[in-house]
Amino acid sequence: MSTPSMTLFHSPASPFVRKVMVLLHETGQLDRVAINTITLSPVSPDSGLNEDNPAGKIPALRLADGSVLHDSRVILDYLDHQHVGNPLIPREGSARWRRLMLASLADAILDAAVLIRYETFLRPADKHWDLWLDNQREKIERALAYLERDSIAELSSAFDIAAISVACALGYLDFRMPSLDWRAAQPQLAKWYADVRQRPSLKATEPPTA
Ligand code: BEZ
Repeated sequence: MSTPSMTLFHSPASPFVRKVMVLLHETGQLDRVAINTITLSPVSPDSGLNEDNPAGKIPALRLADGSVLHDSRVILDYLDHQHVGNPLIPREGSARWRRLMLASLADAILDAAVLIRYETFLRPADKHWDLWLDNQREKIERALAYLERDSIAELSSAFDIAAISVACALGYLDFRMPSLDWRAAQPQLAKWYADVRQRPSLKATEPPTA
């Protein structure tokens, strides 16, 4: 086992961190990264995290030369250039843009779900903005419907950036929005997810239960 040369600023509940952890598992790079777990919320910043990372993004990756990369998309791209196996982000051609677009759609699900989480968990109930919450939910539902309709064969074809991102998005919905019951309207996506969630990389990175 080699000494880690990089440090990942990490939060176990963050689905964006989870994507990075899954890629580290899938590409055999776990022992290159030391984990620095940060307890974080949008209203309690961490000064260590903000050093060279002014927006306080998590995940952030401190490299051996001391520089810091963020956010998850940049880190995933960087780490995918640091291993010798098949790239998980296609390097060129139409596959690159399609897989990155599917990953971006999964991130849009996550962005909306995290905004819902902050609104409902951090703000007092009498300040919740229902119309805004409904619009975030609808964004999630539209994105899931698109994946169900257009993307199952593509997701099944490779466990790459697109599949990692969609799996982490579905895992976060189960974690923070179980009442959404996304499986009812997306049976094929549910079947795909039931299979891929058995992968060691996804099992090892499941969100905390407490
Ligand atoms: C969460 O606890 O749901 C969460 C934590 C970090 C980033 C995003 C979400």
